[in-house]
Amino acid sequence: AAPAPVSPTGRDTGADPTLAAQGGEYLTTAHGSRRSDTDHSLKAGRRGPVLLQDHHFREKISHFDHERIPERVVHARGAGAHGVFRSYGTASRISSAAVFGKDVETPVFVRFSTVLGSRGSADLARDTRGFATKFYTSEGTWDLVGNNIPVFFIQDAIKFPDVIHAGKPHPDREIPQAQSAHDTFWDFVSLHTEAQHHTIWNMSDRAIPRSYRTMEGFGVHTFRLLDDEGGSVLVKFHWKPKLGVHSVLWEEAQIANGMDPDVHRRDLADAIEAGAHPEWELGVQVFEDNEEQMFEGIDLLDPTKIVPEELAPVQPVGLMTLDRNPSNYFAETEQVAFNPNNLVRGIDVTNDPLLQGRLFSYLDTQLSRLGGPNWTQLPINRPHAPVNDMLRDGMHQTAVHTGVAPYHPNTLDGNNPFPAEEPARPFIDHPAPVAESVKERGAPASFDDHYSQARLFWLSMSDVEKEHIAQAYTFELGKCWEQSVKERQLQSLANIDAKLCAVVAEGLGLPAPRPTVEHGRIEPSPALSQIGGQWPLD
Ligand code: HEM
Repeated sequence: AAPAPVSPTGRDTGADPTLAAQGGEYLTTAHGSRRSDTDHSLKAGRRGPVLLQDHHFREKISHFDHERIPERVVHARGAGAHGVFRSYGTASRISSAAVFGKDVETPVFVRFSTVLGSRGSADLARDTRGFATKFYTSEGTWDLVGNNIPVFFIQDAIKFPDVIHAGKPHPDREIPQAQSAHDTFWDFVSLHTEAQHHTIWNMSDRAIPRSYRTMEGFGVHTFRLLDDEGGSVLVKFHWKPKLGVHSVLWEEAQIANGMDPDVHRRDLADAIEAGAHPEWELGVQVFEDNEEQMFEGIDLLDPTKIVPEELAPVQPVGLMTLDRNPSNYFAETEQVAFNPNNLVRGIDVTNDPLLQGRLFSYLDTQLSRLGGPNWTQLPINRPHAPVNDMLRDGMHQTAVHTGVAPYHPNTLDGNNPFPAEEPARPFIDHPAPVAESVKERGAPASFDDHYSQARLFWLSMSDVEKEHIAQAYTFELGKCWEQSVKERQLQSLANIDAKLCAVVAEGLGLPAPRPTVEHGRIEPSPALSQIGGQWPLD
C-alpha cells in the first residue's frame, strides 16, 4: 500500500493513501517500465546528438511541458482546507436538505482566495476575498460560493466581464495595481455607481484581513430554502468566524506582501497543522418568500444591498471546523471546481440577476480550465453521494461505464443502472410564478438607490475605521492620472457623505463637489426588529 502523504514538517496529513498516485518502489515511466537512469538522455555516443527514440526523455520533458492548466479567470490565488460542518438542526424547520439535519456531520472543502491577482500574486492585496465551501452532503454536493464582503459591485451578471476588465492589470503593461490600473477601476466604479457600496467596503479594513481565519463570509445573494411540505423562505447566508473579525493596517499589509507574500496561506496551513482548527458558525437571515421579495424597502434580489442584522438577526444553523490541510495543492486547491449550480434538495436559487448569470459562468469556465466536461470525476470534486447520471465519454473520461443503454428509461440493461421511477427525495423545483412581462433589458426601479447603504456602512464605522477609509480612498485615487476620473469619484463620495468627500478631496488637492442626490436614510424601528424575529429557528 502507498504510504500516507506527509507534510513538509513530517506530519501525517491524514490524506487518503489509496489516492496517492506514486506507489511504486522503483523509478518507472508512466507505463510502469523500470528505469535505472533519469539523469542522462540517450545519445549517439557520449557527445550526442540525443536520439529521438529516448522515450523516457521525451515523456519526462513532454509531461513537464504540459504541467500547467489555465489559472482561474478570477480568484486565481487561493488556499484551501478540509473540514467538517456540524449542523445544529435549527434550519431543518425551514429546509429539507439533509445537511441541515440535527447533528448531521458533512465533510467540507473550503477555498479562500483573492479576486484580481494572478496565481502567484501576494496574499495581502487590498481586494475582496473569496470564501467558497463545498459541502459533500449525503444527497449530493452543495457549493456555497461566497465572498468576505456581503455585497457585489454590479447588479447584473452581464456586467461581470466589464468590472473584472476594469480591475485587472491594465492591458498595456500588465502591472497589477499600477497607476493605469487604478484609473480603469475608478473609471468603472464612478461610472457605475451601483458599485459604490462594494467599493467603500474595499476601502475599509475588511479588504486587508489579518488572516483567512478572521474573515466573515457571505453568500451575498438571497437564496430560497424549501421544506418537505412545499413551504419556502428566502435566506441570506453568513459565516461568522469564532476568532472574530480582524484586519491589518495598510502599512502592515505592504510589509507583509514584501516579506511574506504567502502570509495568509501560511497562516491557515500552520494553524491547522498546529491543531488550532479555525471555526465558523453558519447563520441565516430569514425572510418571507412573498411575491415582492422585498424587506423593509430593500430589494432582496439586489446583490448591492445588505439587510442590516438589527432588522433581521443572523440565526445560527451549524458550525464548520477546518481540521486538515490538503496534501497536494494542485489536486485539491487548484482542481477544485466550485459552482453555484451545485444545489441539493431543499436549497434553491432566486431570480437575482447576478446569481442567474453565475449559474452559466462557472460551468462554462471550468470546461476550459479543467479541460472538458469530466471534472466531476476528479477526486476533490467527486460527490460523496451515489452517482447515476447518463453523461458519457468526453475528454479525460476515467470512469468505465457498464451497460449498453445510457438513456432513460430503458429495458435493455439487466442490471439496470437507470431506475425507471423517480428516486426518493428528488430535487425540489420550486413552482414560483414568473412575472407576466415583456422582454426587456433594464433594471427594476428598486435597484436604483446606489448610495444609502454605502452611507449606512460609513456611519456605522468607528472614528479610527473612518480614518482608514478616508486614507485608502486618498491613497488609491491618488494613483489615478486622469483628473476627470478623480472628480467623478469625488462626486460619488459627496453623495455618500460630505465629511468623507471633504477629507479625500483635500488629500487629492481638489475641490469637494456638492451632493447630487438626497442621502438615503435607514432608521431601524422597533417594529422592524419584530419582523426579523418572525422566523425564530429555536
Ligand atoms: C470564481 C465568488 C460573481 C464568475 C469565484 C470564486 C468565488 C466567487 C469565491 C472562487 C472559487 C474558487 O475558490 O475556486 C463570487 C461571488 C459573486 C461572484 C460571491 C457575486 C456575489 C460572479 C459573476 C460571475 C462570476 C457575476 C460571472 C458572470 C466567476 C468565474 C470564476 C469565479 C468564471 C472562476 C471559476 C473557476 O475557474 O473555477 N467566484 N463570484 N462570479 N467566479 Fe465568481
